[in-house]
Amino acid sequence: MKVLITGGAGFIGSHVVRLFVTKYPEYQIFNLDNLTYAGNLANLSDIEERENYTFLKGDIVDPAYLEGIFEEHKFDSVIHLAAESHVDRSIADPLAFVYTNVIGTVNLLNTARKHWKTNLQDHLFYHVSTDEVYGSLGEEGLFTEETAYDPRSPYSASKASSDHFVRAYYHTYGLPVKLSNCSNNYGPNHFPEKLIPLAIYNIQNERPVPVYGKGENVRDWLYVLDHARAIDDIFHKGNIGETYNIGGVNEWRNIDLIELLCDQMDEKLGRPTGESRKLITFVKDRAGHDLRYAIDSSKLMNELGWAPSVTFEQGLSKTVDWYLENTEWLNNVTSGNYKAYYEQQYTHR
Ligand code: NAD
Ligand code: DAU
Repeated sequence: MKVLITGGAGFIGSHVVRLFVTKYPEYQIFNLDNLTYAGNLANLSDIEERENYTFLKGDIVDPAYLEGIFEEHKFDSVIHLAAESHVDRSIADPLAFVYTNVIGTVNLLNTARKHWKTNLQDHLFYHVSTDEVYGSLGEEGLFTEETAYDPRSPYSASKASSDHFVRAYYHTYGLPVKLSNCSNNYGPNHFPEKLIPLAIYNIQNERPVPVYGKGENVRDWLYVLDHARAIDDIFHKGNIGETYNIGGVNEWRNIDLIELLCDQMDEKLGRPTGESRKLITFVKDRAGHDLRYAIDSSKLMNELGWAPSVTFEQGLSKTVDWYLENTEWLNNVTSGNYKAYYEQQYTHR
């Protein structure tokens, strides 16, 4: 089977690519990524020489490029993760999110449909999305697969639009699709603009840790390898045309999470207890900041037998250890040096 994974050089995509390349040596895995600021091929340095792995540098916004690679490689399935993924960037530049998340997704759907139309039933388009499409919760309740869409940031509006297009191609053209909507991921390879890796970097370097507003917003956190395992389960066992919510059953107020992180890092760095909490700095709130996300994953758990494999304390501890052991990765990302990796490893081939 030839599987095209888009966005495989990013945070979640790199874990999905590694899982598929190592678990399914009989599959040919193609990683399509145009290496935006969030794409880092060093995330996959341990598997880049595998025979069943191919990196393709290209942009999903370019239909001619997609046409060429579908023609050449004859993919059987697509797992689509490529996206602009950061809410704060979407507030600063919404159009970039429309191009990649909406137009890029429709380009992929069009190309897949064109190339698969003689035997649609033998193919699969799996779209990876977010719980943010469901909007914001109050103190109570959970997002289910039936919750009406209510996106409130430019990022979530673009992801909601892409989800609608994927379902429209299923209903209108019969394209075999699956979707999943996941809560906040954390773990190795997370770009240090997002809350947890940014806080780890700042605590390590004794810099202020910015907490938006009063830190009372709630997110559900899932270890990224558990998300990759869920994608594997849904890809292989999920029903065509269906959506699966993925979450960690693990809600945290931002301030509580940051205090836990400070305490874990004090212990690991040999600092006096409470030292890193002094770095916590309340800053101006995010515009339109969604109060609470919480997700009901019972469909995925009951029908496909998936469950998170680590507690939050374990996952966070593993994550902190990874960042402390991989200071070169972090320094390369924060300095911009990671961009040279592609030139060094790939352009001379
Ligand atoms: P990321 O920003 O770390 O990675 C995105 C990847 O897509 C990067 O490698 C980037 O280079 C690539 N990319 C961006 N634009 C592209 C384009 N036009 N053509 C080709 N490649 C392009 O994102 P992530 O956090 O790994 O998220 C992956 C997917 O999962 C996204 O679709 C996101 O919406 C979704 N998701 C993320 C989370 C989360 O907590 N991070 C949770 C739920 C869903
Ligand atoms: O829910 C899934 C989504 O989770 C994904 O679809 C997105 O791609 C991913 O980026 C993430 O979105 P969030 O906006 O929830 O993640 P972020 O890490 O940016 O912020 C988490 C919370 O922490 C949020 O309430 C805002 C807050 N925050 C964030 C940053 C970067 C801070 O308080 N300080 C910060 O510096």
